[in-house]
Amino acid sequence: MKLDGKAVIVTGGAGGIGRGISTACAAEGAGVLIVDLDQEAGDAAVREITEAVPGARVAFLAADIGAAGTAEAVRDAAVAEFGRIDVLVNNAHASRQAPLLEHTDEMFELSFGTGFFATYRLMRACHAHLAERGGSIVNFASGAGLNGQPNQASYAAAKEAIRGLSRVAAHEWARDGIRVNLVSPIARTAGVEAWSKTHAEQYERMLGTIPLGRLGDPREDIAPVVVFLACDDSRYMTGQTLMADGGTVMLR
Ligand SMILES: NC(=O)c1ccc[n+]([C@@H]2O[C@H](COP(=O)([O-])OP(=O)(O)OC[C@H]3O[C@@H](n4cnc5c(N)ncnc54)[C@H](O)[C@@H]3O)[C@@H](O)[C@H]2O)c1
Repeated sequence: MKLDGKAVIVTGGAGGIGRGISTACAAEGAGVLIVDLDQEAGDAAVREITEAVPGARVAFLAADIGAAGTAEAVRDAAVAEFGRIDVLVNNAHASRQAPLLEHTDEMFELSFGTGFFATYRLMRACHAHLAERGGSIVNFASGAGLNGQPNQASYAAAKEAIRGLSRVAAHEWARDGIRVNLVSPIARTAGVEAWSKTHAEQYERMLGTIPLGRLGDPREDIAPVVVFLACDDSRYMTGQTLMADGGTVMLR
């Protein structure tokens, strides 16, 4: 197994892509700490993973990653549960959409608080533990940031700030044995599913922009890319953004 005996933190791991990542990491032998706002979804995720993966080691911490002190609480919970931290997956990110002229400071605070600052604080809080055995950090980017998608100013800006931070950390922490990479996904989550029903035409247009012609599946299409970056298969890679988006953005 690719993550046998390792300990992985997944923020936003109770739902969407994060649940797929948590399941895949548990199936590869890792102990997984899911951190999420949603207690009910967290309990459901733990039940589902325990049933799906024989011998799974999975724990849940209800926390707002945008709040002060959460990064240290997450680190301490992972160490208390598994005695180590090998992989940090900064997946959760909340944001609101609006044209730039209608964007408010609160919208920027939400997106930077849960996206950029949560990622930055957790990376620093976990650094010493990740450095003990050569760890991996997987952060999340978005085509909305890479392409400057309309109505996504606060989200796109925070996502590109995360990419900048990740590249600096990839340089600085390589000597500590820590690799830092990003995944930029497109996936069918509950939110996207609901939107596809209420905005059928827009949804069809969006599908037309994906060369592979479909949305990714969190567990089958996105999680394996995260596992690849988390494990030694990618040991010669750092500072990279991997597009798990059906070919929508082709980076050069
Ligand atoms: N779904 C896509 O197509 C897509 C596209 C581009 C980028 N992304 C990125 O992928 C990542 C996962 O996306 P998703 O679609 O699965 O998201 P999602 O909104 O479906 O799920 C996010 C999870 O994070 C949790 N969460 C939200 N705010 C939180 C907070 N403050 N503290 C703790 N937990 C919190 C939610 O409860 C939920 O379980 C995000 O970084 C997102 O920006 C997703």
